[in-house]
Amino acid sequence: MTITRFVAILIMCIAATMILFAGCSSANEPTATQSTAKLENTPTVYDGEESFQNRCAVCHGELASGTATGPPLVNRLYEIGHHPNFSFHNAVNNGVTAHHWNFGDMPPIPNVAPEEIDAIICHVRDLQRAEGIAAGDPC
Ligand code: HEC
Repeated sequence: MTITRFVAILIMCIAATMILFAGCSSANEPTATQSTAKLENTPTVYDGEESFQNRCAVCHGELASGTATGPPLVNRLYEIGHHPNFSFHNAVNNGVTAHHWNFGDMPPIPNVAPEEIDAIICHVRDLQRAEGIAAGDPC
């Protein structure tokens, strides 16, 4: 093999590699842009159980079975017919004046997005349903 031929083959290899990489990057770029755009437009998806643990469990208990500072939400009193989902939104946004129990008032819980409250409700309803309490359809 002459030097010229060797150099020619080498150049072809380099060119082929460059085309391959150019192909890869141009294929990836739109995907990367799309996924960024998607992230910006997609509303936050809340994990109802995690939110419940962070925001409600301190009073209502990890399993929503109550503590010394708040009543059990897994209780027939809170079945969907007596306390529909809007009463949860109400409780979180406006607080609750003690009326069913002797735990005192529930304070409003600040900065909980409506979608986060919905996720919490889904979680509490799952726990209720597991105990045979009327809780509507699973979310
Ligand atoms: C500081 C303690 C505390 C925290 C935190 C708390 N609650 Fe409560 N909650 C209470 C108490 C006390 C009551 C009972 C009031 C009563 O006597 O009826 C109550 C009642 C409720 C009720 C019944 C409302 C009604 O109409 O009777 C709902 C629903 C509720 N809480 C949901 C939540 C959710 C969801 C969270 C978390 C985002 C939460 N609570 C966080 C203390 C708390």
